[in-house]
Amino acid sequence: MSEPIAVAVTTSSRDYEVVVGKDLLGSLGERVKRAVHADTAFVVTDSNVGPLYLDRALASLDTAGLATASITLPAGEQHKTLTSYGAILDAMAHAGLTRDDVVVALGGGVVGDMAGFAAATYMRGIEVVQVPTTLLSMVDSSVGGKTAIDVAAGKNLVGAFLQPSLVVADIACLSTLTPYVFADGMGEVVKHAVLADSQLFGTLSERPLTQDTDSSYLVEVVAANVRIKRDVVATDERERGLRQTLNLGHTIGHAIEAASGYTQGHGHCVAAGLCCVTRATEQLGWSEAGLATRIERCCLAQGLPIDSNIPHEDILHQATFDKKRHGDSVNLVVPTRVGKSEVRRTSLGELSRIVELGCGTGMQESLS
Ligand SMILES: NC(=O)c1ccc[n+]([C@@H]2O[C@H](COP(=O)([O-])OP(=O)(O)OC[C@H]3O[C@@H](n4cnc5c(N)ncnc54)[C@H](O)[C@@H]3O)[C@@H](O)[C@H]2O)c1
Ligand SMILES: [Zn+2]
Repeated sequence: MSEPIAVAVTTSSRDYEVVVGKDLLGSLGERVKRAVHADTAFVVTDSNVGPLYLDRALASLDTAGLATASITLPAGEQHKTLTSYGAILDAMAHAGLTRDDVVVALGGGVVGDMAGFAAATYMRGIEVVQVPTTLLSMVDSSVGGKTAIDVAAGKNLVGAFLQPSLVVADIACLSTLTPYVFADGMGEVVKHAVLADSQLFGTLSERPLTQDTDSSYLVEVVAANVRIKRDVVATDERERGLRQTLNLGHTIGHAIEAASGYTQGHGHCVAAGLCCVTRATEQLGWSEAGLATRIERCCLAQGLPIDSNIPHEDILHQATFDKKRHGDSVNLVVPTRVGKSEVRRTSLGELSRIVELGCGTGMQESLS
């Protein structure tokens, strides 16, 4: 069995490790014990992940000498609410958690965001360990310190920054994901590769990643993604500049996601958005020639869509509602070539042209 890879992350508030490997749940307790000085570990999970992995996580924490308590929330984005957040806080208080204890988020991005936000606010902040169980949460949401819940007015509108004290990404957990949820994470993986890693992009194009891929390849790809996100976040923890490049594919991707009524997965929409924007920026001469085709091929190899049939007006309407909009322009991330991108202030007129040029080109592999 291959050795786990530990990626070291340095931030202004704390330094921590992201450990990526196979069958790590059995050593979770020891790892938590080494990373934090806690008496009790309070595990937050959801109704899909709990039955699969909670017992193993609790047993390991218990063996390491930690007292344990847990809450299992209903699964799904529709439960990333104030109600669930309140339930976590009540259960933490009920378990007698103090500032010296730790929250362990065992699940995908929904659990990670909610448990992180609960940890950030309980008694003005206690430590959190992230144990991401989806590909998306391993490569994206568990690293970087953003936590949030949804409110009626918008997704992720209420949140806080809290860097984890440790991230344990056990790729064995990926085997129980549905193929769709796995592929959703691949949308962000391709985005990262386009942003910052031409070698990874080349490898993925040749050798798509699936749940059955051998574990050392999965570990390597997840670790490479963690490094990419770490390096971007390290220079811009609070999202004022470079971190915006992580929104590559998201201006149009989010718009497609919202216009679909959130029926399509985020990563699928990001892949489609990435292809749409690149087709357009290539035609405008902002991206190198041939880039769109290369990105389309990579997405198709992962089983990801490369376009959307949603009407241009709907995409534009949603894109200009984007919360990162400044006045009459949006900050659009333009991939200039594989491994390089730039944030470009784009007028609404230009954005309209981009949607026209890049979206709804009638290709078969489109979201509708
Ligand atoms: N904080 C950040 O920086 C950041 C970044 C990106 C996304 N996010 C957030 O992440 C969330 C999306 O994350 P996600 O895609 O992981 O969604 P998710 O947490 O809803 O997980 C997807 C589904 O898979 C199930 N699941 C999770 N792990 C499983 C496993 N190992 N086996 C079987 N089923 C499993 C879940 O119960 C759920 O039904 C969104 O709320 C998004 O806003 C946050
Ligand atoms: Zn995203």
